[in-house]
Amino acid sequence: MKPICQNWSQWLNETRFSALTDEMKAQNMKWLEAVRDVILTYAQITQNDVVLDIGTGTGLLGMKALEMQKCQGKVIFSDKFQDCLDSCKEFLEKNDITEGYEFLLSECEHIALNECTVTKALMRSVLVHIVDKQAAINEVYRVLRHGGLYCAFEPIIRSNTKYWELLHPEFIDRYDEFKAAEEEFSKDPLDPLFNFDDKTLKKNLEEAGFENPEVNLQVVKSKYVVQREMIPAWFTTPPSPTTKCTKERFLMYFPESVVNKFMKDVENFLTGKEISLKTNAVLICAKK
Ligand SMILES: C[S@@+](CC[C@H](N)C(=O)[O-])C[C@H]1O[C@@H](n2cnc3c(N)ncnc32)[C@H](O)[C@@H]1O
Repeated sequence: MKPICQNWSQWLNETRFSALTDEMKAQNMKWLEAVRDVILTYAQITQNDVVLDIGTGTGLLGMKALEMQKCQGKVIFSDKFQDCLDSCKEFLEKNDITEGYEFLLSECEHIALNECTVTKALMRSVLVHIVDKQAAINEVYRVLRHGGLYCAFEPIIRSNTKYWELLHPEFIDRYDEFKAAEEEFSKDPLDPLFNFDDKTLKKNLEEAGFENPEVNLQVVKSKYVVQREMIPAWFTTPPSPTTKCTKERFLMYFPESVVNKFMKDVENFLTGKEISLKTNAVLICAKK
């Protein structure tokens, strides 16, 4: 399969919405803003803070922190990828915002800052893309000043609704084999999307040195009617620019013709049906 997404800023601006209708996209944006506001409320940003937005992407958290500081404090937009920092820079320049921020090109597993240099560390949907979560959390602890706060939101994909739970063996060829494949790839310890949950994150935080970190699991249930055109996008939209889409994951187990038939069966079975989905996430608030 040809790659359909070149880099993170493209993924954030376009790819992640490709399976959604306009209405769902608008709901998604509202939800992202609500998540952002919860993280920032927990973080209690003031103008005295040095805020590190780790894996800033297009600046969802950092831009709001900057607004809360009225550009009189310091926000560090940090990401492993230059295209993300360029995207933040472009937005800031377009809006004539010239003060109160810096950029840091850095991996979160090795943050290029001295220890005890920031007062607030923020993250949204970053650990879910990192294989070694302990290394990233150790780094957050290291760069935070004593009394500093780490506030984050991460999806817990391992326990989300699986395809096989939405389907029925009577209508899907080789249902049991696809169910087994999905169960297997969801347990790969080297797959960053699946190799953690709320309990492992709490352990990581404690091991890094945080005392009594709050890790609140949230389970969200949603319902919607499936439209035929959504289904190919479910299978071919990559969860990040560098990870396999669901079709590619099934191709590790079956020839392409079999996967294509499965996708058609899913399309025919689910189109027009109302489905119920369970999505899980954690909200983290930890003080050094
Ligand atoms: C799902 S996006 C989230 C972006 C942003 N935090 C938001 O809420 O919109 C994941 C971000 O993590 C960044 N990222 C991926 N691997 C990274 C790493 N090893 N170190 C730092 N950032 C990383 C990506 O470039 C991307 O911006």
